[in-house]
Amino acid sequence: MATLNAPRGTRDLLPEETPAWDRVEAVARDLGRRYAFDRIETPLFERVELFARGLGESSDAVEKEMFRVSGAAGSDEDRAGWALRPEPTAGIVRAYVEHGLHVRPGPLRLTMTGPMFRYDRPQAGRYRQFSQWDVEVIGDPGPAVDAELIELATRFYAEVGLTDVVAHVNSIGDAECRPGYRNALVEYFSQHLDRLTDDSRRRLEVNPLRVLDDKALAPDLADAAPKSADHLCDACRDHFRTVLDLLDALGLRHVVDHRLVRGLDYYTRTTFEFVIAGREGQQQALGGGGRYDGLAELIGGRSTPGIGFGIGLDRTILAMAEQAVTLPPPAPLVAVVGTGDDHASRLRVAGRLREAGLAVRPDGSSRKLGKQLEAAAKVGARWAVIVGDELERDEVGLKDLDSGEQRTISLDEVPGSIRG
Ligand code: HAM
Repeated sequence: MATLNAPRGTRDLLPEETPAWDRVEAVARDLGRRYAFDRIETPLFERVELFARGLGESSDAVEKEMFRVSGAAGSDEDRAGWALRPEPTAGIVRAYVEHGLHVRPGPLRLTMTGPMFRYDRPQAGRYRQFSQWDVEVIGDPGPAVDAELIELATRFYAEVGLTDVVAHVNSIGDAECRPGYRNALVEYFSQHLDRLTDDSRRRLEVNPLRVLDDKALAPDLADAAPKSADHLCDACRDHFRTVLDLLDALGLRHVVDHRLVRGLDYYTRTTFEFVIAGREGQQQALGGGGRYDGLAELIGGRSTPGIGFGIGLDRTILAMAEQAVTLPPPAPLVAVVGTGDDHASRLRVAGRLREAGLAVRPDGSSRKLGKQLEAAAKVGARWAVIVGDELERDEVGLKDLDSGEQRTISLDEVPGSIRG
């Protein structure tokens, strides 16, 4: 019979890969606590309309990459159309509006970690199911929080052990100044239609900012294109200036990147992305985010400023492997083995050691002791606790599987001896 494989663009994380995931998730959780974020969870799927309104019909995520799911065929709900979430921000803002969270003392600081889905062409660092650590601050117009979030993401990369991560920042203006900038882009690129890809020509009509996002755009054409920073209204210019001043004051490594328009329509003002310095353009961003002051209204709520970022955990872990980041050593593993056939004693001893916080793997076989010890070493145990007749006196053998040294000690002393 033919074997069955994981769907294209998805991956199984085998046990040797999960310690890196544990590490980045632990750093994210701890930073969430230290930066005073509260956890929120939203469904893995939502109405297609939420993403169409929030992210924009012409965003790649909606236009090309919606991972549609169907419910019971023919039901009203099914006709409404569902999609697996391509990103968390729209769902979080939907929950904010739906539950009237604006009445809570704010600004709200919300965080979530979990899988996202985009039906994209799979390649290295681009998957159909991937994970993000997401943070959102809703109800804060900035600009201090803009800098605080860029600082938080920068700290995340440092704490997982990555070096040379640099923040690219830009401002794409707001409802007041963006139309003028769009017109300037249309006017400029219309003179160079012959040098644009088909995709860019189409984007020029529906969302001209996204032409700057086209990886195939000729560098000279991109460099000479109108810059959003030159078309900002006074309020947006002041906002952007203050964000940059704050980043300087915090000593955060950043560059102003005029091409950074981001792929989702909800963004206003500050946008940012994180890449490894010197590798811009060659690789995809490790994370990105920005301000979305109009999103709550698009979703049917009252006008509410917001800003956040999503860090791609898959790409973060790939970068950690490239930079050969070492992970903290795992807790030492203890095997419980026995001379006789007394499995009740082995399980009881294992239970006592686990109560003391140790990671314990009892041998459930009746093989010879030597075989059990060999097997323990093979699965990575650092210590073996040998259960035999001495257990009557509440004693066991403790064998250091590295040095081979062995002694008899009281069971209560085992955790202390192992931890040194
Ligand atoms: P995004 O830039 O679309 O932003 O995604 C954030 C990060 O998710 C990317 O920088 C990348 O590391 C990772 N990522 C995106 N697509 C894939 C993929 N197909 N495979 C692997 N990793 C991927 C957002 O999603 C916004 N919601 C961020 C945000 C939060 N803005 C405001 N608040």
